[in-house]
Amino acid sequence: MSGKGYTDLHLHLIPAVDDGCRSLDESLAMAKALVSLGFVRAAPSPHHRPEYATVEVARQRLDELKAALTSHAVPLELFVNAEHFFLDDTLITGLPTARKLGGNTMLVEAPYTSALPMLTEIIFRMKVKGVTPLIAHPERCLEFEKKGSAEAAVNAGALLQLDLGAIVGRYGRAAQKLARRFLDDGLYAVAATDLHSPVGAEDWVGAAIEALGKGWGPKVLQTLLADNPGALLRGEPIVLI
Ligand SMILES: [Fe+2]
Repeated sequence: MSGKGYTDLHLHLIPAVDDGCRSLDESLAMAKALVSLGFVRAAPSPHHRPEYATVEVARQRLDELKAALTSHAVPLELFVNAEHFFLDDTLITGLPTARKLGGNTMLVEAPYTSALPMLTEIIFRMKVKGVTPLIAHPERCLEFEKKGSAEAAVNAGALLQLDLGAIVGRYGRAAQKLARRFLDDGLYAVAATDLHSPVGAEDWVGAAIEALGKGWGPKVLQTLLADNPGALLRGEPIVLI
């Protein structure tokens, strides 16, 4: 399955910075699994929260990981990224120093179990500052179960990221159903793994990629896993499916 040119914009690959990989060995195993599935680039996204590693520590471990990938001949190119919390009071004030992707795109996660009445206002305030929110796994968040909420977010200028595991039921029936509807409606900009551990990764991510290709076609697969995430890293425009 190699040679697809996939890019993963949401994964917890950096060792010992958050609830993702706990050691360099785990990070290397995860990176090798991704490469075997056709990934060539990844922007590891440590949680940007007080209980986890600081920006400086995460940056240093990213550099160490890059060196380790080179010395182990694992061809996965890494970029700076972070998973920011959507409701955090510091979201807007912290925009200038946030760890954004090439074209000022910022990965943000919505709360799982509470609504976001300020959703479109927060998106608008970010857009005014020149930042585009890439909302992680909306199919797993209560806010987006509300009819029209995902469409409103996209219309306000946000991008939505599909967690691949949702398609194969890794997060339950409700998330699976919602992910399928958002795919049918062409609402996603990118798909990503949100990997936290290398255990079983090659199997379930592989199954999810296969299900995405079978269900929605090779063009959607290429757009969500290669063209659009690659364009976001380079700061170039994307196309919705
Ligand atoms: Fe995540």
